[in-house]
Amino acid sequence: MATVVNSAAEAISLIQSDQQIWVHSMAATPSLLLEALVERAAQLTNVSLLQLHLENAEMLTASYAKGHLRPRCYFASHATRHMINQGTADYIPMMLSDIPRSMRTGEQPVDVALVQVSPPDKHGLCSLGVSVEASRAACESANTIIAHVNPQMPRSHGDGFIHWREIDLAFEKSVPLPVVRPPPPDKVTQRIAQYAAELIGDRDCLQLGIGAIPDAIMSKLTHLKDLGIHSEMFSDGVVDLVEQGVITNHFKSTHAGTLVAGFVMGSQRVYDFIDDNPEVVLLDIEYVNSLNSISRNKQLVSVNSALQIDLSGQVCADSIGSDIYSGVGGQLDFVLGANLSQNGRSIIALPSTAAGGSISRIVPVLTSGAGVVTPRANVHHIVTEFGVATLRGKSLIERARALINVAHPDFREELERWLKAAFPG
Ligand code: COA
Repeated sequence: MATVVNSAAEAISLIQSDQQIWVHSMAATPSLLLEALVERAAQLTNVSLLQLHLENAEMLTASYAKGHLRPRCYFASHATRHMINQGTADYIPMMLSDIPRSMRTGEQPVDVALVQVSPPDKHGLCSLGVSVEASRAACESANTIIAHVNPQMPRSHGDGFIHWREIDLAFEKSVPLPVVRPPPPDKVTQRIAQYAAELIGDRDCLQLGIGAIPDAIMSKLTHLKDLGIHSEMFSDGVVDLVEQGVITNHFKSTHAGTLVAGFVMGSQRVYDFIDDNPEVVLLDIEYVNSLNSISRNKQLVSVNSALQIDLSGQVCADSIGSDIYSGVGGQLDFVLGANLSQNGRSIIALPSTAAGGSISRIVPVLTSGAGVVTPRANVHHIVTEFGVATLRGKSLIERARALINVAHPDFREELERWLKAAFPG
């Protein structure tokens, strides 16, 4: 049975030097436990903090945490991006589906799982709430589980239940979860969303990433019928379509009638929507993002974004040049899964430019150091505010032409010049 302590400081007292700590991620980031750990950092050496994207984790940048606590990030966040690029934190490029597996096989040992859970129900079950992702596997693998019990954490159905007896130390405090909302969509985002929406039809089963583009796409799908969701994550746009009767999940080939995801991040409305709702299951990300479970859904349409694309179709999504910006996440899991799904499609949707229109995101060759997240052999549809470039089955010259057609007009001449020089025949 969990021992209940009075403070976050007491809860993290079990952590010792040289340990590998898994940090519950996304909107479930246990910020209070992290704060207490950073306070104690000077007494510890060589502690690794394994993590996905963290919210409200700015305390990790505190100078005294350096050298004592070292973030090991599968996905950079606001707090860790600068640290990774300075060399005071590490980035591990890995497909999201592989992360739980690496813990289960022991390839990536986990000594302690730091999690944020709902209070135990009448059966003694707490819930990982808004974020099951790789934290389910971390709890199975860890020798010690330390929990912040938060009465505001929803009780989600699926794989996120952890029995009270599995928790070693628990600390209770009611705090609101982080609200993560993109800015309202601008004209460029609206146009991208319109083109992407034209690739989506009745009864498609969708995977959508986070951000302004996915939510804008959802707002263009209100005329469709019986959409399903099998996604690494979802946000407010999905709730809108469920309430409008557009998402019914009726025709999904797996988990029919049920919305499947690995985590949610958005407004309080999304968190209320999943609370004790058996129509939503948050499942272990090793299962959600496995090629087998993705591709068993017919008409699987994945929608993700990118930072840069070269004219051969290589998609960079985790770095700006060699500066790490985010992570591999589930993009490639879903691109590959959609390719295998009957009548499946993958979409990479992005603005044609960055930095106020001064940089083209469609470039002849990737910037030195840029990381390829989706290889050119697997890429399917690229969507910008200028239309759709379908690359699957196209030659290098054909795909370069298709991409130039959706590049910003200010950069098309330069791209054409490069193409002529590269393929003079
Ligand atoms: N050169 C220089 N700067 C660039 C750039 C480029 N080629 N592309 C983007 N940027 C800048 C933008 O201007 C923006 O800067 P700002 O914050 O100062 O405005 C910043 O980088 C982020 O770009 P943006 O396009 O707004 O990012 P986003 O929030 O829409 O996220 C990804 C896009 C690709 C980073 C995100 O989808 C991701 O992390 N994907 C990888 C994993 C994945 O797809 N997982 C599955 C879904 S969860």
